[in-house]
Amino acid sequence: MTLDLFADADLQQPERFESIGAQSCVLRGFALPWVERLLPALAKVLAQAPFRQMVTPGGFTMSAGLSSCGALGWTSDRDGYRYTRVDPQSGRPWPEMPEVFRQLAEDAARVAGFAHFAADACLINRYVPGAKMSLHQDRNERDFSAPVVSVSLGLPAIFLFGGHERGDKTQRIPLFHGDIVVWGGVDRLRFHGVLPIKDGHHPRLGAERLNFTLRTAG
Ligand code: SIN
Ligand code: FE2
Repeated sequence: MTLDLFADADLQQPERFESIGAQSCVLRGFALPWVERLLPALAKVLAQAPFRQMVTPGGFTMSAGLSSCGALGWTSDRDGYRYTRVDPQSGRPWPEMPEVFRQLAEDAARVAGFAHFAADACLINRYVPGAKMSLHQDRNERDFSAPVVSVSLGLPAIFLFGGHERGDKTQRIPLFHGDIVVWGGVDRLRFHGVLPIKDGHHPRLGAERLNFTLRTAG
């Protein structure tokens, strides 16, 4: 499969670019041509910073396994949510952000209307069937002028995309292997989450869903 199949002109086709807000969209299948480069890069990151179950400040263990790469990685524990330069589990800097992650995120952000996106943090989530992500805002980053770029692989999910208040109505957006969601600008702080993942088997990834979100954190 060649990259020019997914050139910008092609993405302007309405079936590939789905608007979900004034400055947010789903880019259907955008990551598909990248998958075979993403997965080995991801394996290298995970060898240095394996998935772990984090605890929220309120004392709940998150059902998704988490890791990070890039200059800054995201951590949650009883003291709160924050970005750190060092992986608290290994005591070493977080693994470097693979070039293929940065490039994909920059391309997707540009197509979504955000030129020159430079991610310095990438959170990696692993969901097994039953795992979910409660409604939350991504607000630990210093720079809200940069969007969030979210890449989904493996089992499908229902992504909840809400408003600026926790109680606002949510859109239910099915996400499939290779889909990318971008939210930024006026939509940057909208609440979002993921419903419990249904049982299933994905031909490439088996019984799991991987999601990575790229941000400008520092
Ligand atoms: C997140 O909000 O961190 C994850 C979103 C997703 O898994 O699709
Ligand atoms: Fe999030």
